[in-house]
This record gives sequence, C-alpha cells and structure tokens, in this order.
Amino acid sequence: MKKALYKNTIDSRRSCPIKKKVLVTRKPPEHVLKELKNHFEIDLWDSEEDKIPRDILLKQIEEVDGVLCLLTENMNKEILERGKNLMVISNLAVGYNNIDVNGASEKGIMVTNTPGVLTETTADLTFALMLATSRKLVEAANVLREGKWKTWSPMFLTGMDIHGATLGIIGLGEIGAAVARRAKGFGMNMMYYNRTPKPFLEKEIGIQYVSKEELLRNSDFVCVLTPLNKETENLITKKELNLMKKTAILINTSRGGIVNEQDLTEALSDGVIWGAGLDVFDQEPISVHHPLLKLSNVVALPHIGSASIQTRTKMWELAAHNLTIALSGGTPPHLVNK
Ligand code: DGY
Repeated sequence: MKKALYKNTIDSRRSCPIKKKVLVTRKPPEHVLKELKNHFEIDLWDSEEDKIPRDILLKQIEEVDGVLCLLTENMNKEILERGKNLMVISNLAVGYNNIDVNGASEKGIMVTNTPGVLTETTADLTFALMLATSRKLVEAANVLREGKWKTWSPMFLTGMDIHGATLGIIGLGEIGAAVARRAKGFGMNMMYYNRTPKPFLEKEIGIQYVSKEELLRNSDFVCVLTPLNKETENLITKKELNLMKKTAILINTSRGGIVNEQDLTEALSDGVIWGAGLDVFDQEPISVHHPLLKLSNVVALPHIGSASIQTRTKMWELAAHNLTIALSGGTPPHLVNK
C-alpha cells in the first residue's frame, strides 16, 4: 500500500488525521492487519475459521466507513440499509454474487473484488479436479487405504483419458483462458462458449467458439467458469445435461447455483453423464447428507479453488489495497460498480 494515500485521510478542516473505521470480517495475515491498522481504526472478527455471526455483522456495519468481507457474508439490502456511513465493500474474492451490487451503487457504495491474483491457482485446481474425476483419484486412494486393493487388474479403477479429449469451457474469462492453456499442454481439443466471442484468445490458444448446445454435445469435459448472476443461474439443468455425452464429465469451480444440483444428481445417478468434479455448491458448506456426496462418480471439494498460501495472501493484500484506496478518496483498482 502506498503511504502517499494516507494523506487523503487527513481532514483539512482540523488538519489532523481522522482514522476511518473499518470492519474486517475474518482474521487477515499479520502484515495485512498491521498495514490496515496504520490507516484505519479496525473492528476485527478475530477468527480464521468461523464466520462472523449475522447479528454481529448487522450491528458492526452501522459503525463503519468500510468493510473488508468474504464471500461467506451476504451483503444484501439489509446490510446496505444499516451501513449508513458505508463507502466501500471490499470482497476477498473475484466473485461478488454475495453482494447486492445494484443496491450498493444506488447508495454510492463502492464494491471491489480481487481478480487476477487467483487466476492461475484456480486454473490449477480446475485442472486437478478434471484429473481427479476422470482418473478416479479419490476413489483409488480410498480403496488403497481401506485395504481393498487385492491385485493389479486390467480394468480396475479405469477412468477416462484427458489427452486427446475435447474440453468445452463455458465462460472464457481469465480463469477459463488459463485452464485452456493448461489443456493445450495436455493435448486436448478445445471449444468455448461465452457471452461475447474472444477472437484474440482463439488465435493465441487455439480454441474454437461454438454455441452452448454444440459445446455440450461434443465435449468430453464441460468446465463451468462463468460468474454467478441472473443470466447464469441454472445455466446447466436437466435439459443441458441431456445434451452431454454419456461419457462426459462436468466440472464446476465457479459457483453453485449455475448448475442445478438436483438435476445433476439425477443425471449422475441415471448414467446420463459419467462424472462430476465440484468445488462449489448451492449451500456452503454442503451437508454431508447431500445426495451428491453419496455418488462414487463425484469428486467434491470444499471451495478451495484459490486456496494456495501464496494466492490467499495476495488476495488479502489486494482486498486491503482496494479498501485503502477507496477510503482515501481514490478509485480502487478493482472497482466492480464503476
Ligand atoms: C472467488 O474468488 O470468487 C473464489 O471463489 C474464492 O477463491
């Protein structure tokens, strides 16, 4: 964070620094907290693992000029109405479907996110999930640990090849493009569907623009990488799943809500598609009793797309930076509601 920005928090009427008040809804790394404390008076929900209770969030928001929050906080109308002094909501995520952005804009509240720094890490995880699902890695590791490995057998735990297979990416944003670059290295054929075609990426990566239907019909792996919004909610339902190959695998590392979970459960149980790798769910944490978790052709992860130490640290730094700039009178680099 640039020191010069601190000047903006000086109230010229009193010519002494006025520290704005900020709520941080989870414990940041020490160096980030220290930097924030240099600029602001901090209200901290001092836990790494537990989310801030709703009643505390509702109460604290009344007091603060800015909030650095996580995707676990539903920053809806109720919050916006209570946050009378709120100038900025800085989200520690690239996705911001947890925030009522239109409502924030109406109230002149800036909303920021953390794109870029998590692109490669999330693409790595997406690819890991493709490999884990297609080659049954979780099931195989469990078989071994549970003493069920009797002998080497020709068709024992056989999966689907990635090399030579066709990958269909729904949503060719930064993460989608990073996944496609990895797929190229694995010798995959690639196609994508996006709101707007991206001819420059088609050339660079060697990926072909197709309709959603064409993608679903021809892909061996369908990777969902769009943000969740009104247009993408329930983008994949029974209808879309029925278009997919029986041997296809669906991967979702974007957001729950884009893929209809009930339809997906049925499709996986009835052999409409071969498998699914999921890092995100409608309700997080997903209940351990959820029918999806009973299926052996599902690899499910607890929303760890960007979870590397390096990337999560960078996300904290960027979220703090966005917040600091916004509260210093500047335009934060990753302003969602320009
Ligand atoms: C995001 O940033 O939106 C991810 O889901 C969390 O890594």
